[in-house]
Amino acid sequence: MANIVAVGLQWGDEGKGKIVDFLAADADIVIRFQGGHNAGHTLVVDDRVFKLSLLPSGVIRPGVMSLIGSGVVIDPWVLVDEIESLDSMGIAVSERNLAIASNASLILPVHAELDIMREERAGKSKIGTTGRGIGPAYEDKVGRRAIRVCDLASEKTIRQRLDGLLEHHAALRKGFGMNAPDARRIYESLLEVAPKILRYAKPIWEILHDARNSNMNVLFEGAQGTFLDIDFGTYPFVTSSSTVAANAFTGTGASPSARDRVLGICKAYSTRVGSGPFPTELNDGTGNRLAEVGRETGTVTGRLRRCGWLDAAMVRQACRISGADAVALTKIDVLDGMSEIKIGVGYDIDGEFREFLPPLADEQARARPVYETLPGWTEPTSNARRLEDLPANSLAYIRRIEALIECPVKILSTSPGRDATIVLDNLFREP
Ligand code: GDP
Ligand code: IMO
Ligand code: MG
Repeated sequence: MANIVAVGLQWGDEGKGKIVDFLAADADIVIRFQGGHNAGHTLVVDDRVFKLSLLPSGVIRPGVMSLIGSGVVIDPWVLVDEIESLDSMGIAVSERNLAIASNASLILPVHAELDIMREERAGKSKIGTTGRGIGPAYEDKVGRRAIRVCDLASEKTIRQRLDGLLEHHAALRKGFGMNAPDARRIYESLLEVAPKILRYAKPIWEILHDARNSNMNVLFEGAQGTFLDIDFGTYPFVTSSSTVAANAFTGTGASPSARDRVLGICKAYSTRVGSGPFPTELNDGTGNRLAEVGRETGTVTGRLRRCGWLDAAMVRQACRISGADAVALTKIDVLDGMSEIKIGVGYDIDGEFREFLPPLADEQARARPVYETLPGWTEPTSNARRLEDLPANSLAYIRRIEALIECPVKILSTSPGRDATIVLDNLFREP
């Protein structure tokens, strides 16, 4: 058996949902460990399209147990809506295939309101958050004010914890010139949603412990990507959780010894939603072409994604931080028909070559990409199911990426559909 931790190696939207759904064919459990409904994961199965935010991307596979770990911040109303919307598509979600951590923290309406207000006030220096309240919810968790899933079992606890949390928010909101929070309305909404959430509440750490003893395959599903990580990302233009592989364990209660393989997921070019440095960004016809062919519009907010060449220096750093054993390379088909393709191999900062992007925001903004140029290909990779069907130049591009990022490509995705996936190695095999 083998447990796999799958994480994004760029700025999110690498195609994690597609790859996790694909791998879930061999998984017993798929578990989310961080983030919240800032994530948007699109799964295409035959002619059906599923858009997931909070539920793990194994949820549409019959027989797979979906878990949401304590590292995730859960908006209970959004979770209920997502379950109902899947139900309307014929995917049944019940206690038999979903459990959420009793010790996970909740996102409340005041979190999204604060998120949006801060962004408005920041003007040009805004982060470009998804406005879902992710940052404020994690702040309250770390500030020891959060309401957790298990708190929903007692009206008295809900009231006490809500009072404490809202006292803090009332002060913050006053400073921003916002109305006082409507405590009664939030309290009543929580009472109403509580039974719909509590039915799924379980000690997830225990389920994972038992799964290990029963030799089950567990797939840990990361959201966002390495350069949105709170520590390793392009701070402050990041999300508020740790998106790297190590957090798969603190975010779930699984032991680090449960790690068999880390799979990094990487797009064949780069995209980013929201503000922040992006050295290989293309503000020209090539960038527009990538956006158009790659359909680079955000799943969650509908915003256009910024596009650019693959930044192999960044991806190499991401592979090292997460200890990636293998990479799933997605969207190679989007490059079909380009006459030449560039890969960022490092940076020029004030005339000096730098192998990695430095942490200082000022230096990141001044970093100019240093490129290698490879020939493109005219024959399509789109929908290819076998390595032998790929044009030689696309294989040369993949081999060059492997050399630069110092990690082998073991899965290749050639279209959005589940079946347009080439497996070079079955990752669930005994390591
Ligand atoms: P995630 O957040 O990492 O799960 O990625 P998203 O689902 O937000 O964005 C990836 C988008 O690319 C989705 O619309 C997928 O359907 C699509 N996609 C995934 N793999 C491929 C691929 O190999 N080729 C193409 N053309 N699209 C892909
Ligand atoms: P998936 O899982 C791409 C970005 C936002 C913003 C920054 C902070 O689909 O890859 P937040 O709302 O988290 O406080 O926003 O992070 N962001 C994402 N970008 N994909 C995501 O998730 C993202 N989740 C957050 O655009 O720049
Ligand atoms: Mg996404």
